[in-house]
Amino acid sequence: MNGGAVRLVAVNGGLSEPSSTRMLIDRLTVAVTDALGEGERVVDVQVIDLRDLAVDLGRAMTVGFAPGQARAALDAVESADALIVASPVFNASYSGLFKMFFDLVDVDAMSGKPVLIAATGGSPRHSMVLDHALRPLFSYLRTVIVPTGVYAASEDWAGAESAGDGGLSGRIDRAASEFAELIRLRGSSREDSSRQPLRDDALHNGSPSAADVRQQTIEAAGIANFARLLGPS
Ligand SMILES: Cc1cc2nc3c(=O)[nH]c(=O)nc-3n(C[C@H](O)[C@H](O)[C@H](O)COP(=O)(O)O)c2cc1C
Repeated sequence: MNGGAVRLVAVNGGLSEPSSTRMLIDRLTVAVTDALGEGERVVDVQVIDLRDLAVDLGRAMTVGFAPGQARAALDAVESADALIVASPVFNASYSGLFKMFFDLVDVDAMSGKPVLIAATGGSPRHSMVLDHALRPLFSYLRTVIVPTGVYAASEDWAGAESAGDGGLSGRIDRAASEFAELIRLRGSSREDSSRQPLRDDALHNGSPSAADVRQQTIEAAGIANFARLLGPS
């Protein structure tokens, strides 16, 4: 975090114009900014539309390095404090362009980064793309994934969403508040680790170090992910 501001980068894999995936990203960034604002954090938001980088990303796969705007987008993602990522469902998975982009990121730069996953599709029956495709990809990248992912089908945009927590707005708010909590935890564990004398004290008096706190945060998010996948007992 840069001087207290949270650098939030959102990656939109949508290809259409207008893009329903971009609409979902915009709803999520507003909800996350509001949720973080409750703790009076300043949020610096950047949205990357992958459709604008399609040619550069294709070239990067064959020449081995990302040119121009694609490199700038990868730098923004790698240096972000937290990410919102959203892809349209293409043939029951994320789009090829979305995968191509994340194939080019530096895996080590992604480690421990809080990530909120989201997807859009024509059919509500493909909502499991979040848990079958996006969640494994971002686990591989060693990110910390918010337990609630957000899927929006065409009918969610047609005003047919049910009221309450199960509707799109409820899912967005729940994911945003979990994400904000994760960002706060990571921010405070980083602040702790920058205070070296405190950390040394902690070693002597048996208190957990910043590294322990960070590891516990990652493990807690992992346990929450598993609990969610197992469903209600
Ligand atoms: C090539 C292609 C494959 C698609 N496959 C699926 C699919 O398997 N399941 C689904 O629910 N929607 C599918 N769709 C619909 C898109 O996921 C949906 O329209 C999406 O919201 C488009 O996002 P955008 O408006 O941001 O581009 C497909 C669309 C295209 C173009």
